[in-house]
Amino acid sequence: MTPDVRPLVAGNWKMNGTRDALSQIKAIAEGVSGPLSQKVEALICPPATLLYVSTALATDSPLSIGAQDCHQAVSGAHTGDISADMIADCFGTYVIVGHSERRTDHGETDALVRAKAEAAFAADLTAIICIGETAEERQAEQTLQVLKRQLLESVPDAASAENTVIAYEPVWAIGTGLTPTAEDIKIAHQYMRDDLVARFGGEGKKIRILYGGSVKPSNAAELMAIDNVDGALVGGASLKSADFLAIYSAYETLLA
Ligand code: PGA
Repeated sequence: MTPDVRPLVAGNWKMNGTRDALSQIKAIAEGVSGPLSQKVEALICPPATLLYVSTALATDSPLSIGAQDCHQAVSGAHTGDISADMIADCFGTYVIVGHSERRTDHGETDALVRAKAEAAFAADLTAIICIGETAEERQAEQTLQVLKRQLLESVPDAASAENTVIAYEPVWAIGTGLTPTAEDIKIAHQYMRDDLVARFGGEGKKIRILYGGSVKPSNAAELMAIDNVDGALVGGASLKSADFLAIYSAYETLLA
């Protein structure tokens, strides 16, 4: 945790969820409506097909709804893509950019991720910019260098605590059940914090840095307690409301 920073527990549904899954959104919206919501923010990023109806379901709850990607352009001939304005038009308030699956499956570069984050800012969305090393980079002890490069090249100069969240997701930890040690996460998050403060000054102290990669109810409390870990980006365990809410509730004890 970082002093005076409101943590964010975010769920990334990836390419999962049809209309049946809206009952999970409803249960999450209700589950995060207690007093903890004053202190901890909750967000679900369903597939784009469920975005509009999800924001409608979450209207009377503190649950935020976001998208998983946006195009860097405002509009135009880009078949299959969605713009940041379209997300805002569906009342989404966040968009994930540069997830490692997009970087790998769609060849997204740091420069493209930065352009997408800029498009998000222009639409008044908060960009969750994902970074993280591969297994090979970790074995070669290049983790911190990779994070430095990705922060420099993927995060726009206009980043602030309001419009930007960083998600550190070691690629080898995503969907594998593996996580770095608490000490490794602490070192990585401190390194990113120092980097953000060097570049953005006071804003850099407040930009939330999430940890992502195999976060589940059984490890959430330990992971969220680490210095400079300001929440989680949760994949698989965010699909079931009970698991997502158990992760969110880890803050009950941490903030008690
Ligand atoms: P996981 O995914 O929680 O299923 O490991 C995390 C992510 O890709 O955001």
